[in-house]
Amino acid sequence: MRHAVLALVCLALAACDKPAPGSATKQHLVGTDASYAPFEWQNEKGEFEGFDIDVVSAVAKKAGIDVKFIYTPWEGIFGALDHGDRDLLVASITITDERRKAVDFTDPYFDAHQLIAVRAGSAVARFEDLKPLKVGVQTGTTGDVVITSLQGRNSTNIKRFESTPLALSELESGGLDAVVADNGVVANYVAHHAGVKFKAVNDPQFAPEHYGIAVKKGNTALLSKLNQGLAAIKADGTYDRLVAKYFGTAASAAR
Ligand code: ARG
Repeated sequence: MRHAVLALVCLALAACDKPAPGSATKQHLVGTDASYAPFEWQNEKGEFEGFDIDVVSAVAKKAGIDVKFIYTPWEGIFGALDHGDRDLLVASITITDERRKAVDFTDPYFDAHQLIAVRAGSAVARFEDLKPLKVGVQTGTTGDVVITSLQGRNSTNIKRFESTPLALSELESGGLDAVVADNGVVANYVAHHAGVKFKAVNDPQFAPEHYGIAVKKGNTALLSKLNQGLAAIKADGTYDRLVAKYFGTAASAAR
């Protein structure tokens, strides 16, 4: 009986399968490896915070979609998208040709490059100096790719970690000579661990990287909504406000 009534109401409204914008629309699940400050982390209350979180929230608002962030470990993040457990991913993900084979990316929303973290007394001055050293990276990141290309596939000096903070704390405790990760994350860590005396070492040889939001391959409907949302937040000043909030200047912003 209830079903019959509902069916009638639906017929009357002729819109039950297509909720009007702003009404109870499908919730889009956003996978994020939230251990990558200042881009994504979880505060004491478990709430998601960071540049990526604010960007996607603002994009979603413009695009008229509802989003819910879910902590998703980096190692399973692309699989979660592929299996349909997540609708989109935001995790400081560098757009690479390799990944493009498996997922679709929005237009780039941020520029980055690799950066080396070492203890302050370290003699490391450029990337090549890492060749004989014990270097920590987060498994499967672009940091992993660059150090693997320097030291070779069979190097036993590359230490791979589930998360970048784990690699950095191993550096802190003396188990590593260096960590290679995205510039924003290394710079943030060095700035917040002044007592431990880290320094960041750059190398002009690090390639420019661009972050994108990922959707399942072929999900063009969602992709175009996200791209429209991105264009809208770049046009109305929201994007610039977020860059200023997290990075002070627009120096590394992708425009
Ligand atoms: N940009 C790098 C990459 O795509 C590192 C991203 C790691 N992100 C994270 N949330 N842990 O490989």
